[in-house]
Amino acid sequence: MANKNALTVTDHRTGKTYELPIQDGAIKAMDLRQIKVDESDFGLMTYDPAFMNPASCRSQITFIDGDKGILRYRGYPIDQLAEKTNYLENAWLLLNGELPTKAEYDGWETEIKHHTMVHENVKKLMDGFNHDAHPMGMLVSTVAALSTYYPDAKQVHDKELRRTHVKRLIGKLPTLAAWAYRHSMGYPYVYPNNDLSFAGNFLTMMKKMGDKKYEVSPALERALDVLFILHADHEQNCSTNAMRAVGSSMADPYVSVAAAAAALYGPLHGGANEEVLRMLREIGSLDKVPAFVKDVKEGKGRLMGFGHRVYKNYDPRAKIIKRMADEVFAVTGTSPLLKIALELEKVALSDEYFVQRKLYPNVDFYSGLIYDALGVPVDMFPVMFAIPRVTGWLAQWEELVDDKEQKIARPRQLFVGKSQREVPRFVDRPSKA
Ligand code: CMC
Repeated sequence: MANKNALTVTDHRTGKTYELPIQDGAIKAMDLRQIKVDESDFGLMTYDPAFMNPASCRSQITFIDGDKGILRYRGYPIDQLAEKTNYLENAWLLLNGELPTKAEYDGWETEIKHHTMVHENVKKLMDGFNHDAHPMGMLVSTVAALSTYYPDAKQVHDKELRRTHVKRLIGKLPTLAAWAYRHSMGYPYVYPNNDLSFAGNFLTMMKKMGDKKYEVSPALERALDVLFILHADHEQNCSTNAMRAVGSSMADPYVSVAAAAAALYGPLHGGANEEVLRMLREIGSLDKVPAFVKDVKEGKGRLMGFGHRVYKNYDPRAKIIKRMADEVFAVTGTSPLLKIALELEKVALSDEYFVQRKLYPNVDFYSGLIYDALGVPVDMFPVMFAIPRVTGWLAQWEELVDDKEQKIARPRQLFVGKSQREVPRFVDRPSKA
């Protein structure tokens, strides 16, 4: 009788049949290698240029059901986490698997706060950038530079030491991010204030002017903290994949985070929220929405903040952000762009093109409007995404380093270039017209 937990494959080139075990809903790609036409054949591979189907790891951290619009960290639904917890509790949860007790949380918060300061030299690095340097470029570079301050970060198998660097990265990222902003504005850097919350400290480092105390609005502080929760992890996305790929060579976490942040920078990933705001400003008024949607449908650009590789339903994070926008605008006053965003969403969700392709608003569609209301310039949007995502990257990296099944990431290729030929000398090379 056929094995019920197996896939039977017939290779019609040879007529041979193979039985491939199925475990956790997957076959092992390496099991295909035995399928050969003859002994000299390399064996069958899968071709998947954008990683549409391979499971690259076993992970216990984040679960997404894209069809149902579900996102959970360690089993907890994102909407409950956004309602009942703060960002640092989620950082602990992602890294440790459980929510912290009150005592654990207090110790954790204190430790993260003790790692918010960066070496004074980092200011010189910041100063070296042009006045108009993009803050994400500054963040990527200065995070990579932190590697040079902590050579023991290379000892990635030392769990205790590793945790110290994890705390450093979570604590220092807001400082680097705020300083990148201050540099681009030509303002003096503001040092971290450990009396403030994680979000409150970040807002203060960005906004404080002179000696005047910066009063953080509790509503805005909470809104920012919720945005940090929503962005903390998202399983095997492009930047996490970069973190895991670079980390798989046992590179230290600072350069690995820099690589992940570089991946996040792209407009199709964390750069999308920046593009959403530019798009809304370009549309400019409600009457221009239909023409814009028509252009998108004709392939003249994309509706930024719409669509997702995994969510084929409303992104659950977008739902929470949309609700939160009202609370933020109650404090800051409403944005004229919100009306355009709502109209775009209405038109798109009732249009056959978007419905058929299951294109719904993603996390970036409304987050940019909130950052804008908080007075964060568009160039800073991907940086805002990176501040909390560092937790997810690090949790995924620790999981990778401890995973005995993992090795250095090294995909194969289908070689479609020229076969071997003789190298001609200059005189024998045909001249080009
Ligand atoms: N606007 C218009 N058409 C779109 C869009 C869009 N935003 N997204 C996908 N499509 C179309 C696409 O043209 C294609 O149509 P067709 O089948 O006729 O060729 C179809 O939908 C499938 O698109 P795809 O490019 O194969 O989908 P993908 O899974 O490779 O891409 C995506 C996912 C997020 C890169 C894409 O939807 C996109 O470019 N969205 C806009 C950028 C964006 O908002 N990115 C943020 C993602 S969420 C935050 C994060 O995790 O980083």
